[in-house]
Amino acid sequence: MRRPLVVGNWKMNGRLGEAEELARAITSAEIDWDRVGVGVCPPFPLIERVAGAVSGSPVAWGGQNLHAEDSGAFTGEVHGPLLRDLGCTYVIVGHSERRGYFAETNEDVAAKFEAAHRNDLVPILCVGETEEERDAGRAEPVVRAQMEAVLDLAEDPFAGAVVAYEPVWAIGTGRTATPEQAQEMHALIRSLVGDRQPQTAQTLPLLYGGSVKSANAAELMPQADVDGALVGGACLKADEFQAILKAAAQAGAGA
Ligand code: PGA
Repeated sequence: MRRPLVVGNWKMNGRLGEAEELARAITSAEIDWDRVGVGVCPPFPLIERVAGAVSGSPVAWGGQNLHAEDSGAFTGEVHGPLLRDLGCTYVIVGHSERRGYFAETNEDVAAKFEAAHRNDLVPILCVGETEEERDAGRAEPVVRAQMEAVLDLAEDPFAGAVVAYEPVWAIGTGRTATPEQAQEMHALIRSLVGDRQPQTAQTLPLLYGGSVKSANAAELMPQADVDGALVGGACLKADEFQAILKAAAQAGAGA
């Protein structure tokens, strides 16, 4: 049985004055914490503050990105060893906004994934197709290529990792994949890992992301291969995020 995991991706939101309050509000969710793992990924300068607010609670924290190298002359970048120093558990790699706005290729993302593992961080690998790719019937080959870039890195790269399927057309658009669409792609992702490492595939948490909110979480979470959510917009509202945690915990209870 896989324990559900819900991670909040704050993206480029949150100010010094509000970060602690939001983080604390998450820890006060009235849920069965044994049934769901919870993480928050604020912007880099807020990590320490958020960590201070949630430490001692079951809520973990992480970064939204990292550089592939562990140090060096890379102005404006953040390295894995520093995220580790900050007590991060997770780091998101290959988010579609990084792939799109910052031109990260599958190879760049694979190198970041490797850097995360090297620094004892749990990489949350984001994969997903654009609307254009889906309409052209290319959703599967696109996701397959994104997965294979990482699968080719090592014998068992997904051990100790998380994958988030985030169809780009569903991110921040209010348009969510149907539970069936999510399940279909999650099953493909699990089988791609399973073809090489059946054991790892069975335990690999597969999160769905893309306009997850309290209104749709309850139908997405119970899908067989949906093990939780990567939440953007809705994680900035404490009550919405708490409701999503509740839906995930309930799905975990039913598994
Ligand atoms: P969204 O973002 O929930 O605002 O669609 C999800 C994500 O980009 O991780």
